[in-house]
Amino acid sequence: MVKVAAFGMGRIGGEAAYISAVNGFADELVLYDIMPEFLHAQKLDIMHAKDIPVSTRIEDMKDADYCIFSAGYSRSPNVKTRADLFDKNLPIAREAAELLKGFSGKLIVITNPMDVFTWYFAKHSGLDEGQVVGFGGLLDSRRFTVALNSMGIQEEGMVLGEHGENQVPIFSKLSVDVPEAVREEVLLGLRGSSMPVIKGKGGTVFGPAYHIVSMMQKIEKGEEFICSLPANGAYGIEGCSIGLPAKVTRDGAKINENLKLDDWESAKLNAAAEFLSGLCRRV
Ligand SMILES: NC(=O)c1ccc[n+]([C@@H]2O[C@H](COP(=O)([O-])OP(=O)(O)OC[C@H]3O[C@@H](n4cnc5c(N)ncnc54)[C@H](O)[C@@H]3O)[C@@H](O)[C@H]2O)c1
Repeated sequence: MVKVAAFGMGRIGGEAAYISAVNGFADELVLYDIMPEFLHAQKLDIMHAKDIPVSTRIEDMKDADYCIFSAGYSRSPNVKTRADLFDKNLPIAREAAELLKGFSGKLIVITNPMDVFTWYFAKHSGLDEGQVVGFGGLLDSRRFTVALNSMGIQEEGMVLGEHGENQVPIFSKLSVDVPEAVREEVLLGLRGSSMPVIKGKGGTVFGPAYHIVSMMQKIEKGEEFICSLPANGAYGIEGCSIGLPAKVTRDGAKINENLKLDDWESAKLNAAAEFLSGLCRRV
């Protein structure tokens, strides 16, 4: 029996809760949003799709197996980077930490800048560090795969680093050699890859929500995947949460420290860590 909660029932929280219900991952839902009428509408809409118990009492979140933290402001064509959302979303993260006191499950951090709020919840919210994991790397990796496929490279992409401008696509594991100039061009494309979706329909929905549910399924199965975790010295990184490969269980995580990066990738990962540490110091 898996109980899934969503804290923030907008585009991402709503769709992830809906997918969890209809694909059978969740046996029970707990939904919360600051907008009561909207929350009620989301609840009814899901119940009209699937026969599943749905609570909107925040107390029922405490013993959920997973809580998706997806409350807060998102990017618009005028908000260029995820890091620009820091000041507006920090009070919401703090409020959530207060309301989630006593929560015993796994917190899946979505709200941007996601790596920074993963650090916040892991280190400063009162939850155990092992309860917290940040989502973004699976989506970024899928976007990189789409870019590789469009270049005629039919291989799976992997993206480490920040879920944001300082993302680090890993080229050295591909079977073809990609020169640095081309890598930089691809990286530029990846940085802008969600903007057409934001401009065209107001925000991303299907991509993130699908991979959020898939991430919870990977946790259940004990599979390794890319997620944001406090590095705690892995890859020489301290002071931030950052996208790395890890095996995550319901109560902990083990970062895979054996990935060999080339010089270009290492330099980009260090730059990502430096940028994120600066923001993490402010939470
Ligand atoms: N990590 C990722 O890969 C990823 C992907 C997409 C979006 N995001 C981020 O996820 C967040 C949500 O995006 P969205 O598109 O669903 O936004 P949205 O505006 O559709 O939904 C946000 C929801 O949060 C609610 N909310 C606001 N303040 C709240 C509070 N104090 N308590 C409870 N609920 C509150 C709003 O009422 C709204 O329903 C944004 O920060 C966005 O940038 C992250």
